[in-house]
Amino acid sequence: MRLQNKIALVTGASRGIGRASCLALAREGATIVGTARTHKDLEALEKEIVALGGKAKTFACDITKSAEVAACVKQSITDLGRIDILVNNAGIGGYRPFLDWTEEDYDRIMETNAKSTWLFCKEAIPHMLKQGGGNIVNVSSVAGLAGYPNEGIYCMSKSAQVALSQSLDREFYEKNIKVSLVCPGGVETHFAIGDGRAPDGANMKGFSTAEDVAEAVVMAVLPRERSRIVNIIMRPMNEQT
Ligand SMILES: NC(=O)c1ccc[n+]([C@@H]2O[C@H](COP(=O)([O-])OP(=O)(O)OC[C@H]3O[C@@H](n4cnc5c(N)ncnc54)[C@H](OP(=O)(O)O)[C@@H]3O)[C@@H](O)[C@H]2O)c1
Repeated sequence: MRLQNKIALVTGASRGIGRASCLALAREGATIVGTARTHKDLEALEKEIVALGGKAKTFACDITKSAEVAACVKQSITDLGRIDILVNNAGIGGYRPFLDWTEEDYDRIMETNAKSTWLFCKEAIPHMLKQGGGNIVNVSSVAGLAGYPNEGIYCMSKSAQVALSQSLDREFYEKNIKVSLVCPGGVETHFAIGDGRAPDGANMKGFSTAEDVAEAVVMAVLPRERSRIVNIIMRPMNEQT
């Protein structure tokens, strides 16, 4: 177990990549603080981690609300004393022709994907500085590295995470805060099935699994003295680069 005594706060823990990341980090010995909005899924996750012999707490929170994010981080510190690993994973997507997007879509997607990443970093970094370091993993997307048709606002939100990650890496690496980006392509989760893609449709064949991405998250945060993982780009076997 390579993450024993580490405390990991993971957003979007109720399902998909976040849930798989919680389980993968717990298997490496990390104590998990999992957050999302859906209580029953969080409870099920907590039980599963405990059944594996791990330790977990969960905290229901809407990550678009600054007061809820601050409360989540504060509670984690009160209960567990530190945050060694922050995984900003929660996110939503959407596929629409450019002219059909509304202001409401813009606010919802940007707040969930981009603003929440900023809010969690803003709350967690002061504790990491006091502790002498930490790891931040921002789960962006290949859609943050290049624009795709019908995904304009989603691409904007994901590229905001890329820019913030690069900025934080350059600002904080000398303080031993390691900031990693994980950019998956298609992953077989609720996210990819929703908004028009059929679960058994051809598009889903060969998609990455949530567990594939969770392995990348673990790799990004494994202790290493003299280097840091800055960027992981993943592609499923049915996608071109
Ligand atoms: N699946 C893909 O094809 C793919 C590809 C590239 C990148 N990604 C990125 O991977 C990340 C995880 O996606 P996924 O595929 O695992 O999606 P998912 O299965 O739909 O999970 C999304 C998670 O985000 C949480 N969430 C959404 N809105 C929230 C809010 N306002 N407050 C708190 N939690 C919220 C959801 O929890 P509740 O609903 O319980 O709140 C859920 O746990 C996203 O950032 C996505 O952009 C996904």
